[in-house]
Amino acid sequence: MPSMELELENIRLEALKEISSIESIEGLRTIEIKYLGRKGRITQILKDLKDVPPEKRPEIGKIINELKSEITQEIGSRKELLEEKERVRKLEEERIDVTLPGISFPVGRLHPLTLIMERAEEILMGLGFSVVEGFEMESDYYNFEALNIPWYHPARDTQDSFYITENLLLRTQTSPVQIRVMEQLRPPFKIFAPGRVYRRDQPTARHSPVFHQIEGMAVDRDITFADLKGTLDAFARALFGNGVSTRFRADYFPFTEPSGEFAISCIFCKGKGCNVCSYSGWIEILGCGMVHPKVLSIGGIDPEEYSGFAFGMGWDRLAMLTYGVNDIRLFLENHPEFLRQF
Ligand code: DAH
Repeated sequence: MPSMELELENIRLEALKEISSIESIEGLRTIEIKYLGRKGRITQILKDLKDVPPEKRPEIGKIINELKSEITQEIGSRKELLEEKERVRKLEEERIDVTLPGISFPVGRLHPLTLIMERAEEILMGLGFSVVEGFEMESDYYNFEALNIPWYHPARDTQDSFYITENLLLRTQTSPVQIRVMEQLRPPFKIFAPGRVYRRDQPTARHSPVFHQIEGMAVDRDITFADLKGTLDAFARALFGNGVSTRFRADYFPFTEPSGEFAISCIFCKGKGCNVCSYSGWIEILGCGMVHPKVLSIGGIDPEEYSGFAFGMGWDRLAMLTYGVNDIRLFLENHPEFLRQF
């Protein structure tokens, strides 16, 4: 029956073409069902075999079986090929180009003023001082009067301080913390108080209307100037290294008696003289003294029984020295390019 042989050949060509052009495994399964499934074309033809004259049946049957195994085989190898393609595609997809530049996540830094503060804090705590906080807005009483600052002192002038009301101002120094501490603590105590202070200054490279101070105070029986000197020497050596020399000179502050000014040998020229230390070889870093008996009394502490020392330093200048920053305004402008360097 030539027509059946022809039909089988047509099925064969058609199937092979379909198999070789299919690109997905699901599509291949559909083809398999279409030809070899229970209702598939080859199964159908097998059923028609009964209409073929008996003498031709073995021959046709053989062709059908060969066709069946050929299609099965083709599907099998196409499947292998498609699976291999899929594996390659997946690998391709997961490929990592290790030469690509990484994604950088911007990380914040501590502000140089914070870094210096943390160093100072660590040293002072090591010397037995504990940290306290004051208020940035103070009354005339705490900022001036209780500190024995007379009415004619220039800092009391509205030209020099930021007044909020007639009686309230932004503190011009951290010293009012001394009074607040004496009102709350009984001696012996050793405290320090870091914070912002405000003065009506025109901003320049060396002056800013907002800057920072650290106030220190120790009160106990028999505290002497030697305790103050020992403490500040130890502080300076811890901050600037053992090679640093220190110098005390007489000064005047209304709330200490006697008062002193404390300097370190210039950390840049080692005392030889350079433009940072104005060719003096020394850099003044703080004011200090023995707490004035009047101030102790105002704080409710008997000056006959107790004595104390105090000191106050600007820490913006310490940071400028330590990091070689030549303009105090940079600390407040907060440009990332500046801050990234510390
Ligand atoms: N408050 C002073 C100032 O701002 C600094 C100071 C000097 C603080 C002597 C003190 C001190 O505690 O004893 O200039």
